[in-house]
Amino acid sequence: MGMSVGRLRCEYMDKPLGIDIRKPRLSWELSSSERGQAQASYRVQVAESLKALAGSGPYAWDSGEVASSSPIHVEYQGSALASKRRYYWRVKVKAASGGESDWSEPSYWEMGLLEKSDWKAHWIEPVQSPVRTEPKLDIRQMMNYKDLDAGGDHPELLPCPYIRREFAVSGKVARARLYATAHGLYALELNGSRVGDIEFAPEMTAYQGYLMYQTYDVTPLVCEGANCLGAILADGWWAGRVGMMGDSCHYGDKLGLLAQLEVEYEDGRIETIASDESFKFSDGALRYSDIFIGERYDSGYEKTGWSAAGFDDSSWKAVEAIGKELGPLVAQYGEGVKVVQELKAQRGLVTPKGETVIDFGQIFAGRVRIRVKGAKAGITIGLEHSEILDEECNFLMNIMGRHKDQRDAYVTKGGVESFEPRFTFHGFRYVRVTGYPGKVNPADFTGVVLASALEKTGSFECSDPRLNRLQENILWSQRSNMLSIPTDCPQRERAGWTGDIQIFAPTACFNMDVGPFLSRWLRNVAVDQLPNGEVPMVVPFLKSYSLGELGNSSAGWGDAAVIVPWVLYQKYGDKRVLEENYETMRRWVAYIEKTARENVPEGFESKDPERIERQKYLWNTGFHFGDWLTPSVSIDMATGEVDMMKSAFLTKELIPTCFYAHSTYLMARISKVLGKEAEAKNYDELNRKVRDAFYKEYVGADGKLPLHLQGAYVLALAFDMVPEDKRGALVAQLLDLIKANEGKLDTGFLSVPFLMDVLCDSGHIDVARELLFQSGCPSWIYEVEKGATTMWEAWQAITPSGKVMKVSYNHYAFGCVGDWLYRKIAGFDQAAPGYAKILVDPDLDCGLEWARASYRSAYGKAAAGWKRSDGNVSVDVTVPPSARATVKLRGAKLGGVFEGGKAASGAPGVVSAVQGPEGVELEIGSGSYRFEYAAEWKARP
Ligand code: BGC
Repeated sequence: MGMSVGRLRCEYMDKPLGIDIRKPRLSWELSSSERGQAQASYRVQVAESLKALAGSGPYAWDSGEVASSSPIHVEYQGSALASKRRYYWRVKVKAASGGESDWSEPSYWEMGLLEKSDWKAHWIEPVQSPVRTEPKLDIRQMMNYKDLDAGGDHPELLPCPYIRREFAVSGKVARARLYATAHGLYALELNGSRVGDIEFAPEMTAYQGYLMYQTYDVTPLVCEGANCLGAILADGWWAGRVGMMGDSCHYGDKLGLLAQLEVEYEDGRIETIASDESFKFSDGALRYSDIFIGERYDSGYEKTGWSAAGFDDSSWKAVEAIGKELGPLVAQYGEGVKVVQELKAQRGLVTPKGETVIDFGQIFAGRVRIRVKGAKAGITIGLEHSEILDEECNFLMNIMGRHKDQRDAYVTKGGVESFEPRFTFHGFRYVRVTGYPGKVNPADFTGVVLASALEKTGSFECSDPRLNRLQENILWSQRSNMLSIPTDCPQRERAGWTGDIQIFAPTACFNMDVGPFLSRWLRNVAVDQLPNGEVPMVVPFLKSYSLGELGNSSAGWGDAAVIVPWVLYQKYGDKRVLEENYETMRRWVAYIEKTARENVPEGFESKDPERIERQKYLWNTGFHFGDWLTPSVSIDMATGEVDMMKSAFLTKELIPTCFYAHSTYLMARISKVLGKEAEAKNYDELNRKVRDAFYKEYVGADGKLPLHLQGAYVLALAFDMVPEDKRGALVAQLLDLIKANEGKLDTGFLSVPFLMDVLCDSGHIDVARELLFQSGCPSWIYEVEKGATTMWEAWQAITPSGKVMKVSYNHYAFGCVGDWLYRKIAGFDQAAPGYAKILVDPDLDCGLEWARASYRSAYGKAAAGWKRSDGNVSVDVTVPPSARATVKLRGAKLGGVFEGGKAASGAPGVVSAVQGPEGVELEIGSGSYRFEYAAEWKARP
């Protein structure tokens, strides 16, 4: 039958080590050269050895033949999985059209330490002074903080501890595993070699309730005889200066290590080297390292050979073991942070001020590796990082405030040497170089791009290079802001702003496989949820973000707890993410309900019992970020100045109720998916009351809202806040506002993701196209034409007159239009969760000659693309096996659509073809198709 099974994955990942999920889910991809193929049943086998797997067991699980068309998220149902054990598995399937595949190539996953008792290691700490708790500053003091010019010496920062322990290996090694984590960041070395290729372990999580350990296969690194295990620690997110305010010690003020090396000999003996008081520590060449401030490496302090056996550590001191409590350990879930790309310096320049600057041509998150030749020892080279040059092409620090140095320093040892920081990263494009000995040659500077190593799953391309650049910019901002957690920006705050990811999640899922990355982040949302149900505005929740009496959350930010799981379910067909997060969502919505019920806005007075009752369903009190950064409210286009809080204060009364409605709507859908019918009914009922209250309280007879801004209309329409017969009036208001704004958008963070769809769904795709191709400020193309290489935080970051503002040039939020480009321009959309059914419906009249999108869905490779010339249209579609698609060929006549030179209706894989008023609609099975027809223009108004 020609169907084969491949790309076996466990918990979204290829051969993961150290899984601590007791019922991991298995997925595979099917491929076939024939069309219309689907899986009818599968059989999974799992065994502890390849031999058992290929022979006749024993099997930890043999599913037997299970009737199912779905090759995704099949939950392991076998015998209990054991700590540290590797499980091999394979799959075969039967096709709906008959016939059976061969067994797949085997794959495996390996379990981590499932029981606390598996840990023989103790937390150890070098004897150290506590990291300084930075004084609390208010925002003005923080912004005006003056230490930046001090030359970056930071005497208050402590050297990174180096830790070592020698051990003997007596026999042939079959396998060796190293399990490790830290309070702070850690990097391991074994016998002088680096362990693994991940960076910033154990990553940023809500450490008080979720601390990951990592598992390394170190079999090739251990040897018979004397060995040495070494570790370097740094402040990281645990103790370092993190977040907007530059505060330190969010989780602790002392660094510690937990490490366990297990060496399994060929004869079955097991040797365990576990962190304890036999480990010794000293300081070394890393004089300090801070994620935000930067790193200082002084070669003069190098301890050559410190992580190899035989090093003289007689002057090193013993570490202390600190108690028995292991803490909230979990196995690393999802890909680690890695070097994902290297960039060549594009040019070196001497600025009008006479400074030497290296330009990488691209804004990104990462750091610089330098090469130095023939320098004397003891010279300090400084590297400062920024995203932009000013109007005169001088180096400009675009990020202000305490601990925003982004400065690395390297002290030379002489000869040929190279330096790359270890425990810090920066958001930048330009590097100001000071103290470099001799002539600066750009070839000696390499941009090292750092990010969570997420697989790129999508691409969008079209005939307009400006939109292609926009797509690139979105991708770069995603890469830069998905380093361990989803962040707002990779320089100023690097915080897990809940609103930003809520806005960007659908686009993120197209571009990269963010399934495990965001599932992990959601587990941290659950950890950080407050006792009253509030979901903090940033997760992990750094207390310096709390607004005190004003609260810790905001409409449209906290709602990420509901929206993000829903997006993941839609995109990956992952039901478990809904189950796992249901309680968090429920408590968040209960918090909204209570807040709405118990409070009325300041100045509210009424004797009307209906109005008083209605107030209970309006979430219109407290602080909210509102439709953040609404251009006409927050931005002075002439000067470029931004008053961020202005749009918050202006829009904070109306917007929250829209999100109250949205979250209750989603809760009803989610409850249904999980079979919670009674809850679904209650949420539907609540949703109806909220919408009704909004309509009666706020909507005028002419469809006017008290907040007469594009964003308010967009959200009211997107979330169905008005009855069907009133929609037209609101749409008219929205269209008027866009027209009055010369065809430009004026939407803030929360409304921009819905703007284009609201226009399309109300029959105004022409206005959406106008916004897309608009090049005035604010618009997407405006940024591209101003030379953007990432998405900007504010549209006018470079004003029309060329003024360069000190804001973030790397915020993905406004890149949420990427999702719409995939769906509406290339026409690649979904009609069922997980893309079990694809919807292809491109906008052939958008003015482009062609557009195409590819997407590696949970089922496998899918794509949609189109091309038109002189009224001739071709539409390409690829559907993976077991999935189906509806294809809308607008402007087509049934007899006039061809596939492979023949009438499309009879083509293999085409299940049905129907003529509708707007064109032909096809139902197709898996396979690759090219449909061709002469369109009757215009296909769509
Ligand atoms: C961040 C945003 C965030 C916002 C809250 C900013 O400082 O950079 O992206 O969502 O605060 O409104």
